[in-house]
Amino acid sequence: METVKGAVTGNRLGPPDPERYERRFASRAAGIRSSAMRDMMSLTERPDIISLATGFPDTASFPAEVFDDVWAAIARDHRASSLQYGPTEGLAELRERICEIMAYGGAEAHPDDIIVTAGGQQAIDLSVRTFTNPGDVVLAEGPTYPGAVPSLTTYEARVVHVPIDEDGMLVDQAEAEIDRLTAEGTPPKLIYTIPTFHNPGGVTMSLERRRRLIELARERELLIIEDNPYGYVRFEGDPLPTLWELDGGEGWVLHLSTFSKILAPGLRVGWVAAPGQVLRKMNLSKQAADLGTATMTQRFVVEYLKRTDWREHVQRLNTIYRSRRDALLGALDAEFPAEASWTRPAGGLFVWATLPDYIDTAELLARAIERQKVAFVPGEAAFLDGRGRHSMRLNFSGAPEDVLVEGIQRIGQAIEQTMELRRALGGSE
Ligand SMILES: Cc1ncc(COP(=O)(O)O)c(C=O)c1O
Repeated sequence: METVKGAVTGNRLGPPDPERYERRFASRAAGIRSSAMRDMMSLTERPDIISLATGFPDTASFPAEVFDDVWAAIARDHRASSLQYGPTEGLAELRERICEIMAYGGAEAHPDDIIVTAGGQQAIDLSVRTFTNPGDVVLAEGPTYPGAVPSLTTYEARVVHVPIDEDGMLVDQAEAEIDRLTAEGTPPKLIYTIPTFHNPGGVTMSLERRRRLIELARERELLIIEDNPYGYVRFEGDPLPTLWELDGGEGWVLHLSTFSKILAPGLRVGWVAAPGQVLRKMNLSKQAADLGTATMTQRFVVEYLKRTDWREHVQRLNTIYRSRRDALLGALDAEFPAEASWTRPAGGLFVWATLPDYIDTAELLARAIERQKVAFVPGEAAFLDGRGRHSMRLNFSGAPEDVLVEGIQRIGQAIEQTMELRRALGGSE
């Protein structure tokens, strides 16, 4: 039997006739598109490859003594309960702490407004699952978070993209799309947005656009999913109010966030803040999915938050990321062609770069992995309509400065080779 290599398809079980399963898959399963960066995860294990593809936060800087203290406290005081099932909505103590974190970010919430989830990813999944019937229209920025693609496709959403610029989603265009779709009899049901330090765009929605988006949600009775994993990962400037805050409790906004970027993604702890009626449905979906988020890691977060000032750790991380961002931007200035452009993020983990339109970044990636041993996320992974083919997402949090610079040099070489080939074939630039 032929074996297939790869993280997802690599197991050797199953009949020689793949049709056996193919014709039995639910249409839901048949239509799922994967998240490109998940597919590329296995590359991070290859020491010969520099990966700017995944969005790994820096976990090496997590203080060893804090780690030891937290585990010691769990072993001493919470051994039985942290090994036990917990409530589906999450530990009450953790939900209280989450409200403190949200309050620090200017977003008031009550512990009863919160469900703890298995990372921000499950928060997206539960939100989309709760509101989307097959064919329902979801407005999302173009580009959007590649990790949202599996959820949006699982629930068979029809995604309509709204472009972004340096000030985030073009809310005027969102309004025009809503008008158009409504006239066609398919008004959008949800708006999925990452207003602050967008992944992959690296941009932040301006205050004016935030206000207008909230007005639009009220006028057109649209729910907004505000995905906010990066709100605290800020290197400069002052925070803007979240959409949750601007909504002022009217209930048009579901606010999603996670401990992945302010503490550690390996814990898989995130949350949703939403009106009670919505949370009750999500709670049922979560019962179906996993009964509840791992009690052990929820307890880890609670004990960590009791012992340390999480803001100090985030400040430490932000200092590291700022310098990595600067290294990456400097390397882009030096190595990328004049025809390329890219964003200059004031926070978050990503830069979005756009190349001349005769370069297809999916093709470039294949060659860059093979020849230059470097990886990035090709832009089309951040669209559901085939666009984004000349763009790429570059991560700057997961590697030290010298590796980032080397990575950008290698991508620069791959681009140069493509441009040379075009020149040789008589094309103009
Ligand atoms: C916009 C966005 N939403 C959600 C997530 C998922 O977060 P988590 O790792 O907590 O599942 C990420 C992770 O990169 C993200 O960038």
